[in-house]
Amino acid sequence: MKTFCVILSTYLCLCLAEDEVIDLSHTFGKKTIYWPGNPPFNFTNAFRATLGAASIEANYFHTAEHSGTHMDAPRHFCADGKRMHELDMDRLSGPGVVIDVRKQSEANRDFQATEQTFRDWEEEHGTIPDGAIVLFNFGWDKFWPDRKLIFNTDDVMNPSTFHFPGVSPNATKWLTSNRKVHAVGGDTPSPDYGQSSLFETHVMLLCDHGIIILENVANVNSMPATGTKVYIGALKLENGSGTPVRLFAVPMSSASAARCSMLLALTLLFVGRLS
Ligand SMILES: *[C@@H]1O[C@H](CO)[C@@H](O)[C@H](O)[C@H]1NC(C)=O
Ligand SMILES: *[C@@H]1O[C@H](CO)[C@@H](O)[C@H](O)[C@H]1NC(C)=O
Repeated sequence: MKTFCVILSTYLCLCLAEDEVIDLSHTFGKKTIYWPGNPPFNFTNAFRATLGAASIEANYFHTAEHSGTHMDAPRHFCADGKRMHELDMDRLSGPGVVIDVRKQSEANRDFQATEQTFRDWEEEHGTIPDGAIVLFNFGWDKFWPDRKLIFNTDDVMNPSTFHFPGVSPNATKWLTSNRKVHAVGGDTPSPDYGQSSLFETHVMLLCDHGIIILENVANVNSMPATGTKVYIGALKLENGSGTPVRLFAVPMSSASAARCSMLLALTLLFVGRLS
């Protein structure tokens, strides 16, 4: 009976743990990284006061739209693209798809995911679902917030010297022609690799298809390849071309229900063998 209780509580813990929300945003602050040409982040106290037992505080900040963990709205690259306040709500969430290309990016800092990268992923995990939020794990999270390591250059103000991995225009063409995704992003500062000068992947995603781009995503290492729903917590910024986001993933209830029932079945089998 004791064994049964131990196993049952382990099972409950595992089940509950599966439902933990995964935070995919870096903390926003003075070390936050932004593309050269943008003003730095600034955070200022507006007032502090006591009111009875309460201690009141309010601050204000100014920030570039395109800094830290953030999203690009279509208007970032195209004149008739939607701005932040015009986005359809249903575009701001979807099933999480994590594509692990750490090995390729480690071997080649100028690596670009190809059509084959998507095919290989699908062979293992199934078709990329409609509405997916596709996140690349380039292994770049560990460099945050070191600007020189992230842009992989000593000259962080000069984009022509940047060397970080991305998604090739060719692969993007395949994805947008064959699958219907809501967003594409990763743990680097751009889905176009560092050496890109035309930003064709940006243009194709934002302008040709109105697909949101996510940059400097945190914690992709904690994400399973499938089985989560990702939410883009974005500011409804009037006329915005992008905003910092609180990006997070929640295990999909059907997926966690499946995992839990599998665990329960295994537990009962195990207990059955013991007695
Ligand atoms: C990507 O490039 C390969 C090889 O150059 C080509 O065969 C393929 O058709 C291209 N895919 C797309 C979607 O353009
Ligand atoms: C947004 O753009 C519209 C149209 O140009 C303008 O009327 C409005 O004042 C702008 N809002 C902000 C916050 O700049």
